[in-house]
Amino acid sequence: VRRYTITLLPGDGIGPEVISVAKNVLQLTGSVEGIEFSFKEMPMGGAALDLTGVPLPEETLLAAKQSDAILLGAIGGYKWDTNEKHLKPETGLLQLREALKVFANLRPASVLPQLVDASTLKKEVAEGVDLMVVRELTGGIYFGKPRGFSTNENGEEIGFNTEVYATYEIDRIARIAFETARKRRGKLCSVDKANVLEASMLWRKRVMAIASEYPDVELTHMYVDNAAMQLVRNPKQFDTIVTNNIFGDILSDEASMITGSIGMLPSASLGKEGPGLFEPIHGSAPDIAGQDKANPLATILSAAMLLKYGLGEENAAQRIETAVLDTLNRGFRTRDIFSEGNKLVGCKEIGQEVVKSIDPKVPIA
Ligand code: NAD
Ligand code: IPM
Ligand code: MN
Repeated sequence: VRRYTITLLPGDGIGPEVISVAKNVLQLTGSVEGIEFSFKEMPMGGAALDLTGVPLPEETLLAAKQSDAILLGAIGGYKWDTNEKHLKPETGLLQLREALKVFANLRPASVLPQLVDASTLKKEVAEGVDLMVVRELTGGIYFGKPRGFSTNENGEEIGFNTEVYATYEIDRIARIAFETARKRRGKLCSVDKANVLEASMLWRKRVMAIASEYPDVELTHMYVDNAAMQLVRNPKQFDTIVTNNIFGDILSDEASMITGSIGMLPSASLGKEGPGLFEPIHGSAPDIAGQDKANPLATILSAAMLLKYGLGEENAAQRIETAVLDTLNRGFRTRDIFSEGNKLVGCKEIGQEVVKSIDPKVPIA
């Protein structure tokens, strides 16, 4: 058997609900595929703040670094919203991404035939959408200096941040994006605000420079405001999108809605070396936390990305993806993706159905 250590970071809100389901799915998939997982659950985010006083305890980071891959639920909640910057759950997540050097965040959004009715877009617009947002994750305005609070010449309080990108940061994310596009339909759209922002001007210049290494990939550029509009006008025009940290954050939430729900979108955060971080793109959803209403499929699909991109276990990854499709084919739906004629179930129950669909007797093609 192959053995891997997985750090589980359930976090806050619906995080523990979706992680517990995804853990069962991973465990069973492993047993079918001859993989033995040893799971190590560690506190993170608000849960860690309450327990230890910091959002990313040293022991959590150490465990994460020493494992083969990390699966995170979600962090954050009303309770900690007014905390100082360094004591926010979100700060812990940014510290984790930075410490793991996972600069490349892959966020695939595809409209499954089973869920066309769940999309808020018209059927003919949503049908067949299959795109990948490659989001830069450890730079830009999230990390740029100077940042902070100060006062202006009128003695008024100001808050400020800096959007900054160095050449090496753009080059490495551009290469990941070109490689990604090459393995998909060979089209890359770089999204920026190069008509206004210097950091975007450099972004565009470097993406164009790196393009010479990938003559087989068709590169286009789009301003972010137009991209936000085009995503709902005609999302099928996109194959791979590469963009900075903050635009990628926003556009991936927008793209998720084309697929029916933010509860469907997984992600993989990868660096040059060391374990990858895998998490749904949604947050802790405090409005539905503790009610067994969350859609765990984004986290289950993140577990599939963990197997594929984190461990190179492609068969196991495919087994999970197939089980998710099978569960949807059998009509099970959480609230967020429910449509007439289907069976409305909670987080636990849809998880159990996915587990049933991971049938060891059915070989994966
Ligand atoms: P959110 O993604 O948590 O929720 C937005 C809306 O989508 C809510 O109505 C929620 O109920 C719904 N939703 C989200 N995930 C769902 C799921 N799996 N199934 C069904 N419905 C789902 O975003 P928010 O409300 O802006 O943020 C809430 C908290 O989460 C904040 O503290 C925020 O900072 C944090 N957050 C964390 C992460 C993360 O951990 N990676 C990501 C985004 C937001
Ligand atoms: C995400 C989240 C995070 C981000 C927050 C919680 C720090 O919105 O993972 O998309 O902005 O990256
Ligand atoms: Mn986000």
